[in-house]
Amino acid sequence: MAARRILILPGDHIGPEIVAEAEKVIAVVDQRFALGLALEHGLIGGAAYEACGDPLPAETLERARAADATLLGAVGGPEWDDVDRALRPEKGLLRIRAELGLFGNLRPAILYPQLAEASSLKPEVVSGLDLLIVRELTGGIYFGEPRGIRTLASGEREGFNTYVYRESEIERIARLAFRLAAQRGGRLCSVDKANVLEATVLWREVVERIAPEFPEVTLTHLYVDNAAMQLVMAPKQFDVMVTGNLFGDILSDAAAMLTGSIGMLPSASLDAAGRGLYEPCHGSAPDISGQGKANPLATILSVAMMLRYTLGEPAAAAAIEAAVGRVLDDGLRTADICAAGREPVSTATMGDAVVAALGSP
Ligand code: NAD
Ligand code: IPM
Ligand code: MN
Repeated sequence: MAARRILILPGDHIGPEIVAEAEKVIAVVDQRFALGLALEHGLIGGAAYEACGDPLPAETLERARAADATLLGAVGGPEWDDVDRALRPEKGLLRIRAELGLFGNLRPAILYPQLAEASSLKPEVVSGLDLLIVRELTGGIYFGEPRGIRTLASGEREGFNTYVYRESEIERIARLAFRLAAQRGGRLCSVDKANVLEATVLWREVVERIAPEFPEVTLTHLYVDNAAMQLVMAPKQFDVMVTGNLFGDILSDAAAMLTGSIGMLPSASLDAAGRGLYEPCHGSAPDISGQGKANPLATILSVAMMLRYTLGEPAAAAAIEAAVGRVLDDGLRTADICAAGREPVSTATMGDAVVAALGSP
């Protein structure tokens, strides 16, 4: 079998720190499950801007297209705040998502029972939580035109963006979400703001139109403000949530805290063929970078998603998830999930512990 190419894009700040731990895990599962993976490295974000003046160099994009899957750390940081908007690190991430057609962003918020105490909600509210947010990733207000900042006749400036969704964009994300819901608990909640925004009136209409294709799935709708409230009030009512780019960004950070920390939330960003880019949901955490404090588990769990969704290796994926569970059983906690009075472990110690747990039968 030809080697399967995995492109690694560490990015900025804690990006390289957490990706280094994920690479240790990849090396072990590659050997244990004879996966035949070939790793290569590329530049994205601020690191790429510093090296070649572009947050998504053409070479990175070409290699991502050629790779079977891509693993990304995180991009961004205050040192690039004053860079031209088109060249900011985040633009590199948005461009790679758009260029690769990665419209389907899966963000699973699963509470490891060992972390019930780390959640900001009461254990009984979150215990057993297993929620999947399906976020549309290449459309909506993130990409709508026109956009910009203009100066009015009065001399006052005005910033503007366009919230736009085509029917075909809504259909494909809805079908993905329905399909995933059918494979899970059979419940899909579509989140919109159809009481105010026309783009989401169409969203709701199209999601309703797709529903009969999936009679085994029960569809409900919520306005996003209510959805945010329900998510922190009674998160276990949800199985799969599907929503647009901006609402999905916000709701998934909120869902992350239900699981104890944003350092626990992995993601898969998939194209129409199921090829994908995998990354933690969190950012580059400049406030803790370089200190060995970052939780690498979201990135390690993103590797598990890569094995499951793109590489078709569910046993290797399950082994990683079980190893993470065992490490948490053993009481290892990075600072973000560590109870007061207990001693947190470093990023590298956490990665090494997952590797050790993978090695033991
Ligand atoms: P952030 O997610 O980087 O950090 C938010 C908070 O969570 C911080 O207190 C941080 O220390 C903590 N945190 C995040 N990841 C953690 C981890 N693995 N372990 C422990 N704690 C963790 O969000 P921010 O501070 O708003 O953004 C920082 C930079 O990251 C910005 O430049 C932003 O644009 C960028 N960003 C990038 C991505 C991405 O690459 N996908 C996602 C979000 C934000
Ligand atoms: C995320 C991030 C990105 C987003 C930023 C960095 C462009 O917040 O991956 O959640 O808004 O999609
Ligand atoms: Mn985000």
